[in-house]
Amino acid sequence: MKIDTKTKKPQEQWKPFTARYCCSADDHHANFGSMSSKKPSSKNLTAPAQMPSFRKLSFSDSSLRSTSGRLNEDLAQTFAGDLHDFQLSELRGATQNFAAHFLLGEGGFGRVHKGYLEEGLKPGLKSQPAAVKLLNIEGLQGHREWLAEVIFLGQLRHPNLVKLIGYCCEDEERLLVYEFMPRGSLENHLFKRMSVCLPWATRLKIAIGAAKGLAFLHGAEKPVIYRDFKASNILLDSDFNAKLSDFGLAKMGPEGSNTHVTTRVMGTYGYAAPEYVNTGHLTTKSDIYSFGVVLLEFLTGRRAMDRSRAEHEQSLVDWTRPYLMSSRKMRCIMDPRFAGQYSIRGAREMGLLAQQCVSLNPKDRPKMPAIIETLENIQNLRDMAITNGQWPVTPKNSRNDNSVGKGRRQNSLGCRSAAVAASPRTK
Ligand SMILES: Nc1ncnc2c1ncn2[C@@H]1O[C@H](COP(=O)(O)OP(=O)(O)OP(=O)(O)O)[C@@H](O)[C@H]1O
Ligand SMILES: [Mg+2]
Repeated sequence: MKIDTKTKKPQEQWKPFTARYCCSADDHHANFGSMSSKKPSSKNLTAPAQMPSFRKLSFSDSSLRSTSGRLNEDLAQTFAGDLHDFQLSELRGATQNFAAHFLLGEGGFGRVHKGYLEEGLKPGLKSQPAAVKLLNIEGLQGHREWLAEVIFLGQLRHPNLVKLIGYCCEDEERLLVYEFMPRGSLENHLFKRMSVCLPWATRLKIAIGAAKGLAFLHGAEKPVIYRDFKASNILLDSDFNAKLSDFGLAKMGPEGSNTHVTTRVMGTYGYAAPEYVNTGHLTTKSDIYSFGVVLLEFLTGRRAMDRSRAEHEQSLVDWTRPYLMSSRKMRCIMDPRFAGQYSIRGAREMGLLAQQCVSLNPKDRPKMPAIIETLENIQNLRDMAITNGQWPVTPKNSRNDNSVGKGRRQNSLGCRSAAVAASPRTK
């Protein structure tokens, strides 16, 4: 359900864009719950060449409300050379008229179709597969998020951010054209019943890639707060390299002496930081909280919020909290699909990291560079549970589920395990 250690200082300043409405899509968003179901620094993150550097944009209130023609002029002028300005007919052609069998998925903002962009469709455009997102533009909200996406992704380029190829703004239609990510979203791999289990090493690789994307956003003098970090917004290429997508809720960080940005609360249940939900005060630490929730998803194979489970197990953060303190307890909540193929120390360290990230006090949450270093260190650990005789943990008479709860049986390792059917994993 969508609701809305030494870090090297960035070497280059980046200019905030001034589009009053472009980066404040929340101004007209519905409130929480009202939308449908959204160590030292890592060297390559702080290299000057990779620091975001925004050009100053000057979209006005009138251009936001103006006709698509006027807006197209503004966008074309601003993003000439960076983004292609597609016509609807061109995107119809690329997607076989948005054929059902080209549908990749559907989120709160509309459907996403696979397409193929032919060489010569636009000057300088190489032939390539693409993902075309059609925004559901009922109300101003869709348009604002569309515009925020164009403005953020039109300027931000990083290996761990999905590449925006272009956009289409024709009459009421609003579309976005992205590089095609062959393995879809992390959500599909982690939670879908039929999906093959993502190995421990792959989960770590994805976590590190996503962390680098987030570190890039946070790592500037004037950070971008992503605000929608979750499994469905982490897209995967053929080698499981992670890229962040969906910048419709992104927001420029606080200016001057301000410690936070005040906004309407947007995001996704289960991922949004409690202080942000309660106060609307947004900081980069809100993203860190969401990152911690995704780490918990990696460990457990469970969703941030799963209403189909017993009440005390619905919120992943609440359910896992008592188990993150020790390796012994951690075993009880690990994704049973690992079948022991995970590092015991690594799981413990990832659990501790997740715990810090989801601290109730935002100040206790680590920064992205430290998170990356911890995850990279975990990558080197090889003490797999299965070879250390610490697997299985599931008693014979229980199903393949990592449920732990009151009044349930304990197995030989001290994990209480539900002798009930695994809860369905549905979105
Ligand atoms: N660039 C892409 N390449 C390949 N598949 C994509 C791409 N972008 C999106 N998809 C697919 O489309 C699905 C829907 O994406 P979308 O971002 O619209 O919604 P969502 O993230 O699932 O939900 P929400 O609206 O809450 O963000 C994704 O889960 C993914 O499977
Ligand atoms: Mg998404």
